[in-house]
Amino acid sequence: MMASSSSSTAETPSSNSSAPQAQAQQQQPSSTRTVNASAMASNPDHPRKPINLLRGWPSASLLPTAALNAASQRLLSNPSLATPALLYGPDPGFEPLRGALAAWLAEFYGTPSDIERVAVSGGASQSVACILQSFTDPAYTRAVWMVAPCYFLACPIFADAGFGSRMRAVPEDEEGIELEVLEAGLRKMSDEEKGGEDGEERFKDPGPHRKLYRHIIYCVPSFSNPSGKTMSLRRRQGLLELARRYDALIICDDVYDMLQWQPTTTTSTPTPASGTGAETAAAPVDLNKALLPRLIDLERTLGPSPHDPPGKRFGHAVSNGSFSKLAGPGLRTGWTESAPDLAHGLAQTGSTRSGGAPSQFAAAVVYELLVSGALASHLRGALRPAYRRRHGLVVEAARRVLAPLYYDLGQGAEGMLVGGDDGVVAATGMVRSLAGRNDVFGGYFVWFRLPGNLKAEEVAKRCQAEENLAIGTGGLFAVQGDEEGPQFAHEVRLCFAWGGRGGPRGWGYAVGPGGLEDAARGADGGRGGRGWERAGRVEVDIDE
Ligand SMILES: Cc1ncc(COP(=O)(O)O)c(C=O)c1O
Repeated sequence: MMASSSSSTAETPSSNSSAPQAQAQQQQPSSTRTVNASAMASNPDHPRKPINLLRGWPSASLLPTAALNAASQRLLSNPSLATPALLYGPDPGFEPLRGALAAWLAEFYGTPSDIERVAVSGGASQSVACILQSFTDPAYTRAVWMVAPCYFLACPIFADAGFGSRMRAVPEDEEGIELEVLEAGLRKMSDEEKGGEDGEERFKDPGPHRKLYRHIIYCVPSFSNPSGKTMSLRRRQGLLELARRYDALIICDDVYDMLQWQPTTTTSTPTPASGTGAETAAAPVDLNKALLPRLIDLERTLGPSPHDPPGKRFGHAVSNGSFSKLAGPGLRTGWTESAPDLAHGLAQTGSTRSGGAPSQFAAAVVYELLVSGALASHLRGALRPAYRRRHGLVVEAARRVLAPLYYDLGQGAEGMLVGGDDGVVAATGMVRSLAGRNDVFGGYFVWFRLPGNLKAEEVAKRCQAEENLAIGTGGLFAVQGDEEGPQFAHEVRLCFAWGGRGGPRGWGYAVGPGGLEDAARGADGGRGGRGWERAGRVEVDIDE
């Protein structure tokens, strides 16, 4: 019996509490609600333990509970910190945390430390809402341009700010956002504006501390959700250039930047029959340093923007950081870094001025976590090794189980990079999920196109019914409301952060024969089945 009532979303999936699930379901437009229901129905009577590769959460074993306990106790026994932590706070946030964060970010990104650029937030999602409240106007701001596939829970935030019918998908290739497509869209809108009657209508008066932008561009430049891709340096530069030309604010969810590791590199190209190549270690990289400059770091080197009001430097990019993936999402605490005028303007958001930055107490606990060195140890000693291991298991399972399918379907003969240039890739479709620098991967996700003409929805249903396995179907990550944009019916996202305590079972287990064999056959008139039979079933355990 399928319990369809316990459906969920990628980042708010099924658990014992039904209220958040219902709420999350409510956030979906009807088209994606259908996707969710089929992909996420869980069955308590299923003979197999559930595996959830849909949920975008850190697993319980990766929460720094003991360190947070110690940090809270230190905080509460020190009145000079405990009292301000429990009272209303300043608009830009708990000042000790801002200072410590500025220094920590400067160290990681190799930039000068400047507290005036940093504001504490209630996490990345809440921060996007505040940015929109302060720096956009549904009459004046033309559109929200989103890299597609996108982090789907960002869409309702843009819709709430009045952009429900004006979210536009911009596809990404191996280097990230496709700038020609973006530029064509921006140019078209600005040409239309020139011919139009107004262009200057607005509901809001930004006042002296804020400004209104013409466009918003939303992206996850490093280790993207869902594609796992990292935007190249030249695309970052080109994107910034476009934003400065068309008066756009680029909101960068930089939430995965610090979750990076070096995957095992496979040097020799294996045959379909052998499945694997020889493995070697890549040249070591300093994982305590950012892979690439953020867009805000690049902007620091540029002169004033022609769109800045006299005497102000708002700039065109804001970095949205979060402790959700570094410590725990329940903290609901994050930060923004930007030009000081933008940071100040953001702190003038109405809800922030009434009582100060959100999450004051949690911010104070995070401060303790940061200055004690516990956060850095957690990152180095727990998160990066665990995610590296889990990511490796997913890639290995793909190499053993999926790669032969691409070969059998004639998709692997050319350009199939099993252990190719990017070192870790299992098959043509998998290449896309692992693009970026070839010696570093990060984040929570892999994303790939299924072999043959398989539909992700069908595959998700079979996974759920036969293996009690939840996966993310590509349709969920299409930009909501942009029907002409890419729809991703054949793509899937797998999250290796949650895993779950399901015993010795994992992603590979569910894609062996008996799982998707028939579906593959159906898609290819029978040829696909041979791959499944040869590949066999893989058992991996992504629990700690
Ligand atoms: C790209 C991206 N942005 C934002 C968030 C949510 O961040 P927060 O918990 O800080 O609101 C997530 C969580 O999955 C994410 O993947």
